[in-house]
Amino acid sequence: MKIISSIDELRDQLRGQLRTAFVPTMGNLHEGHLSLMRLARRHGDPVVASIFVNRLQFGPNEDFDKYPRTFQEDVAKLEKEGVYVLFAPTEKDLYPEPQEYRVAPPDGLGNTLEGEFRPGFFGGVCTVVTKLFSCVQPRVAVFGKKDYQQLMIVRNMARQFALPTEIIGAETFRAEDGLALSSRNGYLSSSERAEAPLLYQNLNAVADTIRSGERDVGAVEARAMAALAERGWKPDYISVRKRIDLQAPGAADLESGEPLVVLAAAKLGSTRLIDNLEI
Ligand code: PAF
Repeated sequence: MKIISSIDELRDQLRGQLRTAFVPTMGNLHEGHLSLMRLARRHGDPVVASIFVNRLQFGPNEDFDKYPRTFQEDVAKLEKEGVYVLFAPTEKDLYPEPQEYRVAPPDGLGNTLEGEFRPGFFGGVCTVVTKLFSCVQPRVAVFGKKDYQQLMIVRNMARQFALPTEIIGAETFRAEDGLALSSRNGYLSSSERAEAPLLYQNLNAVADTIRSGERDVGAVEARAMAALAERGWKPDYISVRKRIDLQAPGAADLESGEPLVVLAAAKLGSTRLIDNLEI
């Protein structure tokens, strides 16, 4: 595997490649990321991964400085997956001058759910993804469904800008007890780790209740938030949304069987976890 930090070198290395499959990451790779590499391999060749902890998507009080950086371990894992190039730019490589041109998602999709609790997050994601795409020029790019809203925003962005990159969504990789794998799980103490699957259990409870015909979505969401709060969690949201646009479903949507997803974000101790489940 070639490890490349400069944009020019990356372009030289990938020149003429028409079927590149790309997986952008912020490193600290776990089985979930590796499953994205395997999916990428099924959709293109060569597989290119990136590791870049993108300052633009972190708020002033978020964990940019303490975000886990495990470069050598990550390299060994990517080698095993047969990744052809790891693009690992420094901040100076990717942002040699202040990144004043930004890409922002539309308000409806960008300011709700994660966008409401992490202002500027999706602008940071869209900007770096646009820049990484411009460097790698992939035919396909793989994003995990665990970051459901991110996947949707990137997919819509690629469509609206007519980018030549197809966005592929990968199923969430879960531990045996249901907890979605995430780099932030490493922040959990052992007692918090034992408690953490409750988030997914609550998503399942919400999905089951909606499937069984309950129409008072607000009450279902409130009950699920209360169940977490009772155990000491601090939920930001548990929210049933339409898959098509992540807006709240109306009565007619519930009647017509509009495809739905339930999304959640909650703090356990000082660790903020997110998860979702398609209903
Ligand atoms: O999902 C992530 O790890 C990041 O948001 C991404 C897509 C690599 C952009 O920095």
